[in-house]
Amino acid sequence: MPLAATPLHQGLDRVLIDAETLEHRIHELGDELGDEYSDTPPVLVGVLNGAFIFMGDLSRRMAVPLEVDFMAVSSYGQATESSGVVRIVKDLERSIEGRDVLIVEDIIDSGLTLQYLLDTLQRRNPASLRIVALLRKDKADAIDVPVDWVGFDIPDEFVVGYGLDKAGLYRNLPFIAVAQVS
Ligand code: IMP
Ligand code: MG
Repeated sequence: MPLAATPLHQGLDRVLIDAETLEHRIHELGDELGDEYSDTPPVLVGVLNGAFIFMGDLSRRMAVPLEVDFMAVSSYGQATESSGVVRIVKDLERSIEGRDVLIVEDIIDSGLTLQYLLDTLQRRNPASLRIVALLRKDKADAIDVPVDWVGFDIPDEFVVGYGLDKAGLYRNLPFIAVAQVS
């Protein structure tokens, strides 16, 4: 799919995953997760802001009763590289004790954010705690987080769209694109 000369597409280098490919894979994941949680209604924990579109599409494909809740976390310092220090900006609305929890994340880069979330949520004694991430970067120095489901493994480049931003923009692109290096 070519990029158009519109303001929305300015600053993009190329399309990495088009809308149709995203939809196909998310339907696969949704069907698989629906089967997985058919006997144990899960709580989907979306990590804001990046996971909001993935969460919407994935959850609508999971044909089981489920609940959704959201967390927002932020790294201290500059947003370009994870500092390793993460703080909770918005916590869950409800207890997850005894619940089957599925963390829904947009992308795993260094793995620091997810590692922190796993540690934090594990202490609240859920019955189970698993992770689905739409994207995972191929990075040699990333923390080895035990991710249960991954949509796509991608090269180590800065990507935007389908929920992911650069300086707050591009989240509403219906595809994943590589941003121009600036
Ligand atoms: P990590 O803690 O380094 O794994 O970073 C995870 C978070 O950084 C993700 O949840 C995103 O919000 C953000 N992030 C990492 N890489 C990218 C990217 O390529 N594009 C947009 N956001 C990213
Ligand atoms: Mg995120």
